[in-house]
Amino acid sequence: MILTKKDKLSPEEITESVAAIENECFSVPWTKRSIKSQILTEGSVFLLVRADDGKAAGYICGQCVADECELYRIAVLPDYRRLGAADMLMSEFIAQCEKNGINSIFLEVRRDNEPAKRLYEKHGFTAVGLRKNYYTAPICDAIIYLRRVAADSSAF
Ligand SMILES: CC(C)(COP(=O)(O)OP(=O)(O)OC[C@H]1O[C@@H](n2cnc3c(N)ncnc32)[C@H](O)[C@@H]1OP(=O)(O)O)[C@@H](O)C(=O)NCCC(=O)NCCS
Repeated sequence: MILTKKDKLSPEEITESVAAIENECFSVPWTKRSIKSQILTEGSVFLLVRADDGKAAGYICGQCVADECELYRIAVLPDYRRLGAADMLMSEFIAQCEKNGINSIFLEVRRDNEPAKRLYEKHGFTAVGLRKNYYTAPICDAIIYLRRVAADSSAF
């Protein structure tokens, strides 16, 4: 598996790869238009992971504002799961936050999404809140997770 950062790819290339992953992984996938607009937003973070066969197998996306970052999505295509792709994406995402002076990473996750909750807890996130009936299709509560980030002093 190989990781690629946003600045190494064209917005079109990221959009196509992310849209294909979104369509396979989510009941309400992001449109190409919303993906492209997010790529072009200042402070957005996109990392793609490619499988050894060259296929874009997974991605992670977040938005940094000042010293906070919100992790919006992490997804890996079904055929490439349980191979450590999400671990790679998450570790690099957190490392980038550390380098960029981020103090806190927030995210929301469906209460019934056990694989994702395990992944977040493995990477140091803790549950700090609940939003009742936050998700639709199907309706489900959201758990809010937070990870504190120790700023990397070598970056300054
Ligand atoms: C959640 C998801 C991204 C994990 O991707 P993955 O590449 O299979 O995960 P990894 O192989 O890197 O596993 C990393 C950790 O995640 C957790 N995990 C992943 N899949 C799991 C499963 N099916 N059951 C329990 N824990 C799981 C484990 O803690 C695992 O660490 P371990 O192997 O040491 O136990 C993937 O299942 C997915 O794309 N799901 C659909 C999209 C989604 O729900 N995204 C999250 C909300 S945006």
